[in-house]
Amino acid sequence: MKLEELLDFFWNDYISITPIAKSIHQLLEERGETIYNDHVAFRTLAVPGIGLEAFSSFFKEFGYEVKGQYDFEIKKLNAIHLENIENPKMPKIFISELRYRELSDSSVSLIEREISKIRGISLADLISKKDVFNISSSEYESLLKESEYAAWLCALGFRANHFTVLVNELKSFKNLEELNALLQRNHVPLNTSGGLIKGSPNVYLEQSSTMASRVKVNFSDKELLVPTCYYEFALRYSMSNGELYQGFVTDSADKIFESTNHELDK
Ligand code: NI
Repeated sequence: MKLEELLDFFWNDYISITPIAKSIHQLLEERGETIYNDHVAFRTLAVPGIGLEAFSSFFKEFGYEVKGQYDFEIKKLNAIHLENIENPKMPKIFISELRYRELSDSSVSLIEREISKIRGISLADLISKKDVFNISSSEYESLLKESEYAAWLCALGFRANHFTVLVNELKSFKNLEELNALLQRNHVPLNTSGGLIKGSPNVYLEQSSTMASRVKVNFSDKELLVPTCYYEFALRYSMSNGELYQGFVTDSADKIFESTNHELDK
């Protein structure tokens, strides 16, 4: 499979559960914009075979290399970002993994039960499965109390968590504020955790994001309406050497993660 086909696969799956991203994409195209992706993000668990190592080897086959490492202490996450060495225009890949063993005993055993079902299946095969994990609605609710990240992952699996519009490539907006204003005029709910815009020119990166769409997801006992995925917007600034900053800012990403929270948009 070519990288373009892989990214199309992720995009089509993503918009199938993220109607907000599809409508924003259309809204921008109607203004004559061509949309470039800054990065695509995935969530996983810190387990050999499906963790950061496995994801980075998977993407290495498509020309990617690890370029940055991050730690989110409170959310118990390790993360890396990869850049495409063969074609720098291709989106970066941002992958985080949950150090789930730091959760309560009951969450650890629930997650380990799910991991045991997929042992021996390659990551390439798991990525194309829509129902990697299979938990009940009450198990989802109990995970949610402890880690929104764990609940999201066990409900949705290894699908793209978000795509990101590279605002630098948009022609009809002077800055991120103007894009946010257009989205708000179109009644798009934006993530306000830490302010509408996370980051600043001082850290060479400004980001904003929608709140996640809410879609019915099948659990082992019933369907529940849950936050699925969100769309992100990134404006990158040049560093003193004249090159655009390509990394990520931990404090900002920490707030962006909350775009899949249940509470924020109430
Ligand atoms: Ni992101």
